[in-house]
Amino acid sequence: MGRVKGGKSWYERHKKDVYRIKASQSGLRSRSTFKLQQIQSKFKLFSKMDIVVELGVAPGGWSAYLVDQVRCVVGCDLLPIEPVQGLSFVQGDFTDVSIQKKLIDLAGGPPNIICSDMAPNITGIAIRDEAQVISLNQSVIDFTLEYLAKNGHMIIKLFESQGVHALIRGLQKDFTKVIRFKPDASRAVSKEFYLIAIKKN
Ligand SMILES: C[S@@+](CC[C@H](N)C(=O)[O-])C[C@H]1O[C@@H](n2cnc3c(N)ncnc32)[C@H](O)[C@@H]1O
Repeated sequence: MGRVKGGKSWYERHKKDVYRIKASQSGLRSRSTFKLQQIQSKFKLFSKMDIVVELGVAPGGWSAYLVDQVRCVVGCDLLPIEPVQGLSFVQGDFTDVSIQKKLIDLAGGPPNIICSDMAPNITGIAIRDEAQVISLNQSVIDFTLEYLAKNGHMIIKLFESQGVHALIRGLQKDFTKVIRFKPDASRAVSKEFYLIAIKKN
């Protein structure tokens, strides 16, 4: 959200993006992989016995990283993906309750971590885009409060807007710590940041 693809300045920035170059040199599916790696190196959330539900998987950069970090990864996306070995994938809209139930069935138990890199398509109308981000993330929070294991963690992607403050305040009563984090790999010009909610009560 907040990025309009097109125009010379976007192209010049994109060309010079060191993380994009590094991702393509390392054969990674997405530069977003670096964001998750940086979250993990700062917060050490994922460990070998974890069950992880990942929302907004395509093209699979986070998944390819996660399958080496944890015991079980299940995920969904509106878009199809090239298979990732070790990932159980469901194609569909996360906000659909039947997709949520499928994810939990595939996980085979309460997830220890729920992470979302989802962002709705932008319309360019700021007020509408901001409302959609909040609404999508509120669905992730509702799902998390219902299914995440006690002491589990949640990672969600947000964009700076008025609405995020209420959302953060709401989470503070359900988690031990709620931290805003902008990984180095997240473009400075983007309003994007991640909310790291640690240890569900
Ligand atoms: C930034 S991409 C994720 C990149 C991914 N983390 C990676 O490393 O490859 C965001 C994804 O969220 C997906 N998405 C957005 N809204 C969704 C929804 N309601 N249900 C499922 N997926 C959704 C989009 O289709 C898109 O593929």
